[in-house]
Amino acid sequence: VHAAVGPRDLVGRRVLVSAGGTREPLDPVRYIGNRSSGRQGVEIARAAAARGADVVLVAANLEVAAPNGGRVVHVSSADELQRTMLAEAADADVIVMAAAVADYRPDAVAERKIKKDEQGDELVLRLVRNPDILRSLVVARRDGQVVIGFAAETEGDRERLLELGRAKLARKGSDFLVLNTVGWNQGFGTERNTVVVLDRAGDIVAEADGSKASVATRILDILR
Ligand code: CTP
Ligand code: CA
Repeated sequence: VHAAVGPRDLVGRRVLVSAGGTREPLDPVRYIGNRSSGRQGVEIARAAAARGADVVLVAANLEVAAPNGGRVVHVSSADELQRTMLAEAADADVIVMAAAVADYRPDAVAERKIKKDEQGDELVLRLVRNPDILRSLVVARRDGQVVIGFAAETEGDRERLLELGRAKLARKGSDFLVLNTVGWNQGFGTERNTVVVLDRAGDIVAEADGSKASVATRILDILR
């Protein structure tokens, strides 16, 4: 029995969503990570499935349960996320890159646990840039495929935030960019979200402020 029947406007659309935050290994027991819970991406996957889409969720270290419905592929590092996204993108009509990808990873992964008595009082890490997954998805984009990126910024001023978003959009080349403000207690890991969605031209096509489920609905509405 269905409690409520919403729109089934995504029947026949194949939607690929990444969610969570990557972990970059240092040694077999340690990693460098970020505070993304995966909640917003999971809500997008859940909402897309509820609207009839064929959903693949690529989940990087979620702190929340993956939704029922659709297929879930678990990954951990940015490298795994990139390989999985590029492979799954071949069968996707819509790609939503909601995962928080580590911009840098340790340049080498120790085979064995790093020990203090071999390091002394200081441990210096060298980090190297990770590939830009969203950019690589845009480069590989097929005709008709829609690519949606996210942008997490700590900028509080709206005009400055929009400027940063437009610059990022130009660099990424995605069809849409979902801009949100993150901070110590905002965005990452929280229940609510506030977003502005820009199209390729940098124009605002949607705004949402509320639960991550309601924000997910608003983001998917731009596909209509
Ligand atoms: N992204 C990605 N691969 C990376 C870094 C980011 O695919 N190596 C994606 C994110 O998933 C998001 C978008 O790019 O959809 C923007 O991420 P963000 O961290 O806001 O932007 P960056 O390009 O990494 O720039 P910076 O962090 O320096 O602001
Ligand atoms: Ca980044």
